[in-house]
Amino acid sequence: MNSPAKSPCCSGCEKTDGVQQRRGFFAKALAVVMGGAALAIPAAAGAVSFLNPLRQKGSAGKLLRLANLETLPEDGTPRKFPVVMDRTDAWSHFANEPVGAVFLRRTKDGVEALQVICPHAGCYVGFDEANKRFYCPCHQASFDLDGKRLDEKSPSPRDLDMLEVELRNKNEVWVKYETFRTGTPQKVADA
Ligand code: FES
Repeated sequence: MNSPAKSPCCSGCEKTDGVQQRRGFFAKALAVVMGGAALAIPAAAGAVSFLNPLRQKGSAGKLLRLANLETLPEDGTPRKFPVVMDRTDAWSHFANEPVGAVFLRRTKDGVEALQVICPHAGCYVGFDEANKRFYCPCHQASFDLDGKRLDEKSPSPRDLDMLEVELRNKNEVWVKYETFRTGTPQKVADA
C-alpha cells in the first residue's frame, strides 16, 4: 500500500526547507569554485616550468669565489676564469656544471670583471694579447681593456657587461655572476 505523501507541517516549515536547500546549493558551488582555483594555480605554474625546461633556478646573481688575487697578472692583463655552479631546470639538477666564464683583471682600483658573452648575439669574446683588446670572432666587434667598444660602427649594441666584484679576506676575488639580454643597448639582466 502506498504511504501518503508527506506534506510540510506548516507554510513556515516549507519556506525554511527552501532556504536550506538554496544554502546547500551555494555552499557546494563555492566549494567547487575554490577547489578549481586551488588546482589551477599549481597546474599553471607546472605548465610554465614544463614548457620551458631550460629555465634555470638559482643560477643568476650569485656571488662566486672565482680566483685569488695573486693569480691575476700585475700589469692588468685579463685572465679568463670558468664559472661552475649547480644548475636546476624543470627536470633535473646538475652539480658543478660549467655555465660560463668571466675575464678578471687588476686595475689601479682593485679588480674588474667582464662577462665573456658578446652583447651582440651571444658569442664568447676572446682576448687578443698582441693588440690588448677583446674581440668577438662572430662579427668582429672589438672592445678595449675596460670593455668599451672600439669601433663606432660596432655590431655590438653596448659595451661588454661589467660584473660586480668583492675582494674578501684581502685576496679572494668574488664575482656576482649574471648574464644579460643580448641585442639590446640597455644592460638587462636575464630573469
Ligand atoms: Fe659578437 Fe656578433 S656576436 S659581434
